[in-house]
Amino acid sequence: MMRRPSEPRRAVTAYFDERAPNYRAATGHGPWAWLRRREAEAVLALAGEMSGLSALDLGCGAGFYTDLLVARGARPVVAVDASQSMLAEITDPRISTMMGDAATVVLDRRFDRILLAGMLEFVADAAAVLVNARRHLADGGRIVVLLPPDTAASRFYRLFHRSHGVDIHLFDPPGIEALAATAGLRQTARRSVWPLALVCALEAR
Ligand SMILES: C[S@@+](CC[C@H](N)C(=O)[O-])C[C@H]1O[C@@H](n2cnc3c(N)ncnc32)[C@H](O)[C@@H]1O
Repeated sequence: MMRRPSEPRRAVTAYFDERAPNYRAATGHGPWAWLRRREAEAVLALAGEMSGLSALDLGCGAGFYTDLLVARGARPVVAVDASQSMLAEITDPRISTMMGDAATVVLDRRFDRILLAGMLEFVADAAAVLVNARRHLADGGRIVVLLPPDTAASRFYRLFHRSHGVDIHLFDPPGIEALAATAGLRQTARRSVWPLALVCALEAR
């Protein structure tokens, strides 16, 4: 039996479905581009060497980070998102796309690098997503997560999302370590990118 998405997930997917056609353009200039550039630097630094390694972008959106994985030489590259409209924005033939819930999607292989960028704050059960990511992690592999810390700037970001009916979670470092431990992972590196992001590298315990 196919399970229907929960009410919060439907609200999140509806929001991103609507944003999808403009998502790349809207986040590609002005303050968003400045933020993106700095966050991406931290994500790529913590992801480390990628050439010839397999990579999975969970909650890939319109493929901002998926493109960077490809540009860094990762192969194969798989991108998963709950929004079909977001996935439709990814046109690079080197990227395999799949619609699915990050907490439950089952892929036919494991990956050396798994990225969860700006998506854990939108899910009802972040631990379930990390458990599923861990399940798809190859031996010696690494997961990199980018998420909003519980700061004043992030609380504004949360208010922004509340204005269209989407509730997001904010995270603190001890909470992230506890979540990681639940999924059989340990944090091996962390960077703070002012004002809206914490980036953590997680590996199997
Ligand atoms: C803020 S966007 C970030 C997209 C992309 N990682 C980026 O940095 O551009 C969050 C993405 O997470 C996706 N998402 C939210 N909940 C999800 C879930 N449970 N499973 C898969 N994708 C999900 C949304 O559809 C959306 O595309």
